[in-house]
Amino acid sequence: MCGIVGYIGERKVAPVLIKGLKRLEYRGYDSAGIAYLDDNDLKVIKSKGRLSILEGLVAGIEAKNTIGIGHTRWATHGEPSDENSHPQTNEENSIAVVHNGIIENYIELKEKLTEKGIKFTSQTDTEVIAHLINYYYNGGLVEAVAKAISKLEGSYAIGVISKHHPDSIVCARKDSPLIIGLGKGENFIASDIPAVLPYTKDVYLLEDKEIALLEKNSVTVYDKTMTPVEKEVFKVEWDIEQAEKGGYAHFMLKEIHEEPQSLLDTLSQVVKNGKPCIDSLNLKDEFIKKLKKIYIVACGTAYHAGVVGKYILERSLRICVEVDIASEFRYRNSLITKDDLMIIISQSGETADTIAAMREAKSRGAFCLAIVNSPGSTISREADGVFYTRAGMEIAVASTKAYDTQLMAFYVLSAAFSKIRGLVDDKEAKKIISSLTSAATTTKMVLDLEEKIKRIAAFSLNQRNVFFIGRGLDYALALESSLKLKEISYIHSEAYAAGELKHGTIALIEKGTLVFGILTQKDLIDKTISNLQEVKARGAYIIVLAAEGANVEGVADRVITLPKIEDEIYYPLLGVIPMQLFAYYVSVLKGCDVDKPRNLAKSVTVE
Ligand code: M6R
Repeated sequence: MCGIVGYIGERKVAPVLIKGLKRLEYRGYDSAGIAYLDDNDLKVIKSKGRLSILEGLVAGIEAKNTIGIGHTRWATHGEPSDENSHPQTNEENSIAVVHNGIIENYIELKEKLTEKGIKFTSQTDTEVIAHLINYYYNGGLVEAVAKAISKLEGSYAIGVISKHHPDSIVCARKDSPLIIGLGKGENFIASDIPAVLPYTKDVYLLEDKEIALLEKNSVTVYDKTMTPVEKEVFKVEWDIEQAEKGGYAHFMLKEIHEEPQSLLDTLSQVVKNGKPCIDSLNLKDEFIKKLKKIYIVACGTAYHAGVVGKYILERSLRICVEVDIASEFRYRNSLITKDDLMIIISQSGETADTIAAMREAKSRGAFCLAIVNSPGSTISREADGVFYTRAGMEIAVASTKAYDTQLMAFYVLSAAFSKIRGLVDDKEAKKIISSLTSAATTTKMVLDLEEKIKRIAAFSLNQRNVFFIGRGLDYALALESSLKLKEISYIHSEAYAAGELKHGTIALIEKGTLVFGILTQKDLIDKTISNLQEVKARGAYIIVLAAEGANVEGVADRVITLPKIEDEIYYPLLGVIPMQLFAYYVSVLKGCDVDKPRNLAKSVTVE
């Protein structure tokens, strides 16, 4: 959600900014722009629409200077338009600002500045920052930025340049991500690591309320009292290849194909001598033994992983697990206490609602264990313990390998907690890890279903509504299957607990409506088949995703069969892959922008 880049060094600035913005495209945006200094003159080029438009506008310029900032904007205040795009400037066009976040008191600030005679040209909250910095400017850019941000309420990551300071970029953050890339004779700012990866793997992770002054050969970071801070260099482990498509048509397809390896990587780091080992998670055995309640909190796909997590943990530990959507949890005055465990899940580690929910739980004394994919992210830094999913960089907006590795984290936690609580002995714990490893390996065979799924997708393009139904773990998988389809193909879909259909939704079934039945849990198969019969009787076309051996004759029009595994509890790991492939091919065949679906942002950094 909004992407920021900034560069100061020896290179021509415009291509560096455009390249950086391209690497942040996955965050979602509807306009883009850059500002740079050209012979001490501040130039701004910006436009509504895709980066290719900005690239065209920038192509003709001959920037002599080597300092600038760039931005992709996901509109919050004011429609996507040239005027509302960033960078935003002050009246005399001496200061340019790019911003990610929401300034909650911008109306009040705007009124005060307007009373002083300042004229606004956009509808954005960001413009107040440019005017405020100018208002407080007294020869020192960092000082003016510090003063300006002390007046802001809400969230921000900002990058600022001024024509009076041709050797400086100033940046700051609060509740929005921002990193500083450290080069030799050059430095960078960015919303996320991929933007700086072609140049450096050394970064500073800016903390909330820190301000930094970047020059070509130095970076100075200050805290909110303007005292210089000693920062540790964070070494990025991800490779640049992970940010490339590697021969695949889309990042999403590449990332689906990476799932088997990601699962094994996630598992292997928490296995020692064949047994689950979670020593690195900072959890005390005594705490786990006494646990009576677990809260799982997340958004979107990560929330769906949490729903699977609930089934797994309740089944193995026989303790109560609540799953909450983060934006609900943060305001519902929950009953969480210091005796409870909070598991938060996030691919990016930067989702605003999830961060807020974690802070809320921490303020009530709960231990917060984060299942996170992005090292160095806010959640990974603030959580009490971190279980890293090893999915590697996930670029496509639609989450795929991150989801599967989040499930893997729950399987491991379930095995480890069972062991600590004396529910399984060493031998049984080893057996669990062995069948989990075997299930993870079997996901490679599931990828062989790709051609078949492509054919099914081709046949499903003209659906107006699609329903995914299942019970138990199959219902949890239905939730994610439905989200995947709607977010990238724009076909309306719903997931329903199979037994709940009759209580209203069945009214929507008509001749030809596509219903996906998920049938992987032996005890529930017959029940779901009965529900499929009910929709079939009303004309539904039925596709079944079933475990090998399930008898679906007479009900299914098409069947996708999952290979046999030792324990059916692991079927969500396998079952999600065909559903992701189905959504992918429907989207491709409909001609949608698979990796960057409309209106969506990879990392939702505002409330
Ligand atoms: O980075 P997070 O896992 O915290 O993101 C949460 C959701 O925004 C995310 O899972 C979203 O639903 C997916 N991109 C959908 O595929």
